[in-house]
Amino acid sequence: MSLLVTNIGELFTNDPGLGIVHDVALVVDDDRIAWIGPASTAPDADSLLDADGAAVLPGFVDSHAHLIFAGDRAAEFGARMAGQPYTGGGIRTTVAATRAASDEELRRNARRLVGEALRQGTTTIEIKSGYGLSVAEEARSLRIAAEIVEETTFLGAHVVPGEYSDRPDDYVDLVCGEMLEAAAPHARWVDVFCERGAFDGEQARAILTAGAKRGLGLRLHANQLGHGPGVRLAVELGAASADHCTHLDDADVDALASSDTVATLLPGAEFSTRSPYPDARRLLDAGVSVALATDCNPGSSYTSSMPFCIALAVREMGLTPSEAVAAATVGGATALRRTDLGRVSIGARADLIVLDAPSHLHLAYRPGVPLIRSVLHNGVLQ
Ligand code: NIG
Ligand code: FE
Repeated sequence: MSLLVTNIGELFTNDPGLGIVHDVALVVDDDRIAWIGPASTAPDADSLLDADGAAVLPGFVDSHAHLIFAGDRAAEFGARMAGQPYTGGGIRTTVAATRAASDEELRRNARRLVGEALRQGTTTIEIKSGYGLSVAEEARSLRIAAEIVEETTFLGAHVVPGEYSDRPDDYVDLVCGEMLEAAAPHARWVDVFCERGAFDGEQARAILTAGAKRGLGLRLHANQLGHGPGVRLAVELGAASADHCTHLDDADVDALASSDTVATLLPGAEFSTRSPYPDARRLLDAGVSVALATDCNPGSSYTSSMPFCIALAVREMGLTPSEAVAAATVGGATALRRTDLGRVSIGARADLIVLDAPSHLHLAYRPGVPLIRSVLHNGVLQ
C-alpha cells in the first residue's frame, strides 16, 4: 500500500541534505518513506492525505520512560508543591503497588500511557523496568514491556529495595547475576540510577559492565539530583546516553562533547520536582548531542507529552524551537542508536505527524494546545 501526503506547508526532515523544506509532498510505501519532492512531480499512490498547508514532522522518539507501574503518587506531588523536596524515596511506594498488581493491570496501564503518548505524536517510546526489584518482578515487568514496545531497558538498579536495605552490595550482586539473566531475554538496554541514595559510581560500573557482557547496550541515570560520577562513567563505558545531566561541571561537558554518548534531558522531571532545569544551550554550544524525553513515571515526571517537553526546552533551557524538535526526534533516535527513526528521508520508517499548525514553531509558541492533527505510525494512519 502506498500513500501520498500532499500540500505539506513545512516539512521538518532532520535530513542534513534537506533541512526544513516548504511546499512539498511525500510518498509512503508500506512502512517506509519512498519519495519526497514537489507535488507536481509526485508519483501515483493508492491513497491520499491532504496536509492542507500544515507542518509535517518525524514522529517524536521518547527515549526515556518508566511505564510499567501501578498506582500514582499525586499526594507526593501535592506535598512537593507545598515545599517538600523530591528524594527518589517514593520509588519504593510504587514498587509496593507494582508488586501487588496483576499482569493485566500492568499491561493495561502501560498500553494506556503508550496510547496517550501516540496521540501526542510519539511514535517510538522506550520502556524501563525498575518498579519490581526482585528477579521475578523485573523479569515480569520486562516481559510485559517487550509485548508493547521494541525498546526495553532493564533498570533493576533503580533503588535498593527495602528487604536489602542493610546489605546493598548483596543487591548489586543479585542485579549483576540472577536478575540480569532473567531480565536480559526481554531487554535491549541496561540502566542504573547513579545518584546519592541510589547506586554509587562503583556499583553502577559493576552493573553496567555485567550488562554489557550479557549483550545489552548501556544507558545511565546520571547527575539528576546533584553532581556525581555518572556522566563521566557513562562516557567511559561508551553508554548510548547519559540521562538527566542536570548538574554538570566543565569536565562532564567536555567528556560528553568528545564522545558519542547522547545527553538526554528530561525537563518534565525538573518541572514536577520544582528544580533548576539542565542547561541545554551550554551542551549544544559545546558540541554535545542532545535528546529530549519525557521520563514519564508516577513520581518525578508524570507526563507523556513530548510537545510539553519541547516547550520547556525552548522557554527554560535555551534551545531554539528547531533545536528542541530535533532533540525530540533525531536526538531520541540517536540516544537509542536507531538510524531508521526520527528523520524524514528516503528509506526511513514512515512515522510522521501532521500538526494543526503551519510550522514547528507552534509547538513552543502555543504551549499546552493539542496541535497533533494526524499521526502515521509504521505507515499506518492512527
Ligand atoms: O528518572 N530518577 C530515577 N528514576 C525516575 C524517578 C522515579 C520515581 O520517582 O518513581 C526518574 O526521575
Ligand atoms: Fe528516569
